[in-house]
Order: sequence, then structure tokens, then C-alpha cells
Amino acid sequence: MKKLCIGNWKMNCNKDMLLKFNPNTFMSYENVEVGIAVPHVYIQMAGDRFVEGRPCLCAQDCSGFDSGSHTGEVGARMLKELGVRYVILGHSERRSLLGESNDTVLSKLKLALGAGIEVILCVGETLEQRKNNVTNEVIRSQLDILSEVDGLERINVAYEPVWAIGTGQAASSKDIQSALDQIKNSLSRYTFKSRIIYGGSVKKSNCKEISRIEGLNGFLVGNASLTEEFSSIIKSLV
Ligand code: PGA
Repeated sequence: MKKLCIGNWKMNCNKDMLLKFNPNTFMSYENVEVGIAVPHVYIQMAGDRFVEGRPCLCAQDCSGFDSGSHTGEVGARMLKELGVRYVILGHSERRSLLGESNDTVLSKLKLALGAGIEVILCVGETLEQRKNNVTNEVIRSQLDILSEVDGLERINVAYEPVWAIGTGQAASSKDIQSALDQIKNSLSRYTFKSRIIYGGSVKKSNCKEISRIEGLNGFLVGNASLTEEFSSIIKSLV
């Protein structure tokens, strides 16, 4: 199973950044698949710049509607048509800032898989939930939606504790290991084997240590994917 290293550029992108983008920075490694998730409006341009899937083209979200009168929405089949290989779904910024529920994430998940796009499903607890000792319950409930989905082999799970995202303070190896165990436990009723990756303040200084965690298959990287640190992070998985 190849490892996965996905950069999430969030709402940080412009034409100039893509024009200066050098795909050769992204060496191909046999055991690591590298992708970058760009804002929807830049997907076409990024697709032209990301030569031969280096890095592979990813989206940060898709609509929970298939097509029709949904002003401003971008459907999974549209993304597929533009060459998108992976879509990030259920990111905590969407759950918290835009009120996305597990049901909404489920609708998106079904449409993405139906369109032939692989999913990176984000799960993770807030600081308050962690303090209240309900981390495992939160993860379990966020993964429960999978029981309603076909095509699970195209799902990857990203453990992203909300309190570690963008804070500079990654979760400890012990916390990641414990979440990983919970995720594996929740997935044990299925026959597919999902890649499980970690996201939340992954950077050059901590990637080596985190990459050593047994059973972890890669990273979802926000801020550091906008910098040259991203290459070191990729290399830590090789
Ligand atoms: P971060 O973001 O690496 O900046 O913490 C991770 C994410 O939001 O996926």
C-alpha cells in the first residue's frame, strides 16, 4: 500500500503561485503518492501545471448535490471531468465554520465515490471533546457514515484533531497512536483496508517522528504544504 502525502492549500492560492509552481520539486517516490488540494477555481489551471500527476490533483470539497439548481456549488462529476483524483471531505474547518454535519459529509461521500474520485475523510475531536474524554466516541460517530456507503476501498481516513490544526502544536505520537487504534477498531467490521493518515501542524521538525508511528500511512498537510518544508515532509515517508 502506497503512503499518501496530501498538501491542503486551503484558500491560499493565486495564478502567480501556480505559474511559478515547479512540478519537478515533487520527485516521484515509489511508495508515496503526493497530491495537492487547490481551491475549485484553480483546479483546471493546477491540472495543467501538475504534469503527469506530479503531484496528483486534489479538491478540498465537493457538493452534496449531484446537479441542478444549486447556485455556487461544484459537483463531484465536474471535478472528475477536470482530472481530480482525491477530494478532502469533512474537514473540520467545514464542519465548524460551515456547519457541515455527518449527513452532509455522507451525501458528498456517496457522490464523490460515484463519480470515481477517491476520498480523504477527515475525522477528529475538538479540544473540548478531548477534555471531556469523548475522543473515541467522536471518531466512531464520524466514521459511522461508512456503513451506508459502497466502494469503501476508495476511502482514506485522515485523523485531524481540531486543536492541532494550524496551531503549530501537533498531537503527540501517543495521542495519534490511540486515535489510530480507535479508527482501526471502527473500521474492523469492513473488509477493506483504508489508509490512515495524520493531519494537524505537521512540519519539517516533527514529520520524522510522526512518520514512525506504526500503521500510519501518511500526512495531510496545511500550512507547511505552502512552503519548501513540504518536500522534507514527503521524504520522511519514503
Ligand atoms: P495544518 O493544517 O497543517 O496547517 O495544521 C492541516 C489541515 O487543516 O489539514
